[in-house]
Amino acid sequence: MNKKENSITDGSILVVDDSEDMLEVLRRNLTLKGYKTYTVTNVPQALKLLDSVPVDLVITDLKMPDVGGFELIKHIRANYKNVGVMVITGYPSIQGAVDAVKTGAEEYLVKSFTDEELYAAVERAFDKLYSRRPAKDHPYFKHVPLQGIIGESEAMEKVFDHIMKVSQTTATVLLTGESGTGKELVARAIHYCSSRASNPFVPVNCGSIPEELIESELFGHLKGTFTGAIETRGGFFHTADRGTIFLDEISNTSLSMQIKLLRVLEDQEVYMIGSKKPQKVDVRVIAASNVNLSDQVQKNKFREDLYYRLNVINISLPPLRDRDDDIILLVHYFAGKFSNEISRAKPAFSDEVLKVLKAYHWPGNIRELKNVIQSLIIMSETDMIDVPDLPAIMRFSVSREKGIMRTLEEIEYEHIQNVLTSVSGNKTQAASILGIDRKTLREKLKKFGYNA
Ligand SMILES: Nc1ncnc2c1ncn2[C@@H]1O[C@H](COP(=O)(O)OP(=O)(O)OP(=O)(O)O)[C@@H](O)[C@H]1O
Ligand SMILES: [Mg+2]
Repeated sequence: MNKKENSITDGSILVVDDSEDMLEVLRRNLTLKGYKTYTVTNVPQALKLLDSVPVDLVITDLKMPDVGGFELIKHIRANYKNVGVMVITGYPSIQGAVDAVKTGAEEYLVKSFTDEELYAAVERAFDKLYSRRPAKDHPYFKHVPLQGIIGESEAMEKVFDHIMKVSQTTATVLLTGESGTGKELVARAIHYCSSRASNPFVPVNCGSIPEELIESELFGHLKGTFTGAIETRGGFFHTADRGTIFLDEISNTSLSMQIKLLRVLEDQEVYMIGSKKPQKVDVRVIAASNVNLSDQVQKNKFREDLYYRLNVINISLPPLRDRDDDIILLVHYFAGKFSNEISRAKPAFSDEVLKVLKAYHWPGNIRELKNVIQSLIIMSETDMIDVPDLPAIMRFSVSREKGIMRTLEEIEYEHIQNVLTSVSGNKTQAASILGIDRKTLREKLKKFGYNA
């Protein structure tokens, strides 16, 4: 009874969670991105809704009173072939999420996640749904993009070549590059091109886990070793066994954590908290940083030995502004993708707009470009995107050609843009250079539609 055989119609999402607050946050965020969003607080209601409206993706909590999320996943897998499932699970219970993936969920998110993480996971779930449909023509690409990484510039050809080479090995890889250049995307590509592809890829944002929890999250703990350790539980390294662990924002780990990571890398063994017995793990490590790690070493904030141990192979991702040829390609790619998601025809872009987009500095790199195109697709109602549709900060980059005939406002924004570029989009640093507080900078950027 595959009723929903062709149900990918209007980017509709059903969210199931017993917390009204969570539902509200998700409804607001998903609606903002143009998805049609339904919310219910329990599984029986979800089943009713699935039977009455077309749904593309179900986002569900796992722990709910009466009927839990696992039952829902099983029901969807048995009855709705083309409905995707994404799981949200309370922190910290990554094992539940991994079990959910084994049951048939395509994606999981661990609370508390950022808006960006939510959008990225939803998008990956939609990409998987679309990839199950008959292959569509991609008139903009010379060849099929590798693992969803778009780029035909010389710099990206080099990156693709490195991905293919390192995926044949288990060497540790350090990914560097400004924010939004695609480090996580490349980490996933390395994993999915390698012989480990059928085992887990476990992303860990080292910056977002509190210092007192990180050791237990990474290496696990024995029952009773600290208050709250009510059972023995493995860590991310156990979950990633025979797969890949992605240590994102590695520079945010403390020096004492760095020693422990070094030991794991050297011995391929982990010690659970409370245990003196090492356990062998077979994990490929990919680390990423958007700050310059060798600078951190100089400042004694990052251990030199760990730096060399991580930096066996370095893949450095070029900023978008140096990937001239790719900008237009990415514009068309994201325009097609987001139009498709919300079932509107892909608009055209005037030559002038393409010129402005090519000339812009893109301090937030591909993430920024993607956000700009997505909001153009949601907000504009015309068939042809023109310069007035663009955020003001980009329109001003046209005005640079006017030389002396510029307003103070135009010069102010050009300066802000240059400063942001020089600090790789870091707003705190930019505000300090500009001599204004972060809030003022945020307001100015908002007024001018800066989107990263
Ligand atoms: N070459 C590409 N083709 C298509 N999408 C891309 C490409 N590079 C990046 N993206 C998209 O841009 C967004 C940012 O990429 P990603 O999260 O991998 O960047 P990052 O380098 O990890 O950034 P940060 O340092 O801020 O974490 C993601 O949504 C990703 O899918
Ligand atoms: Mg990242």
